[in-house]
Amino acid sequence: MCPPTEFQVSFEINPWMNIEKQPSKQKAWQQWHKLFEIYQGLGIKISLIKPEKGLPDMVFVANAGLPINKKFILSNFRYKERREETIYYKKWFESQKFEIITLPKNVYFEGQAEIVELSDAFIFGFDKRGSESAIIFLKKYLGGKKPIIPLKLVDDRFYHLDLCLMYIEAINTIIYFPGAFDEKSQKIIEKLNVFKIKISENEAKKFLCNGLSYKNSVILSGKNPRITAFLKNKGLEVINLDISEFKKSGGGVKCVSLLID
Ligand code: ARG
Repeated sequence: MCPPTEFQVSFEINPWMNIEKQPSKQKAWQQWHKLFEIYQGLGIKISLIKPEKGLPDMVFVANAGLPINKKFILSNFRYKERREETIYYKKWFESQKFEIITLPKNVYFEGQAEIVELSDAFIFGFDKRGSESAIIFLKKYLGGKKPIIPLKLVDDRFYHLDLCLMYIEAINTIIYFPGAFDEKSQKIIEKLNVFKIKISENEAKKFLCNGLSYKNSVILSGKNPRITAFLKNKGLEVINLDISEFKKSGGGVKCVSLLID
């Protein structure tokens, strides 16, 4: 995680961002810290990266890159506003003895936010940020044991996969917003070997998919009685977290977390 001390909206690279609607520093800190405490409560070890001045989006560490088998595929951001962040992500992962993989200049990739690992496949959500061609490199480094399924994102508001699809491993279920994907991708999703819950545009707009599950707990961005009841019914613990301030930059619970194992 990256503490939100430098977090603000200083540019507009997605439809949620409006430099005239700044997040409250204090509220952002409280919301981020709450998540930090939730992770601690779940027994998750948290590492921090130092926030850098002038890089407000560093708080969204899910975009740093993709850690896999002690390798780190460093992101290659589509927008110049975020490119400088990679210097610090690279340094951090080097210090943790990861082998750094960099992509060619013209191949965009924005890290874990664009990848979901299912039990028998990886999903890669591309086009709004990551380039389709990144799949060549993902295939090379993700070990080759599971296929990588590319899904095309078509809605500017849901520019990363983690804004429109979430996987809950404990119940082998995905929660997703079909409208964020092109028709071909929607058909592919229908055939995935998982249980599926479709959500409405309104639910997606609240960043319902930008949650995270760990063992039998699910942390959701905001509140959603329908999905909360469903998950509780399946025996899962549901934790709802208000992420209003990060939403002003187009992010939520998952966006401010990078999972490393
Ligand atoms: N302002 C950031 C951007 O537009 C938000 C990133 C959200 N991150 C995510 N994992 N979806 O790049």
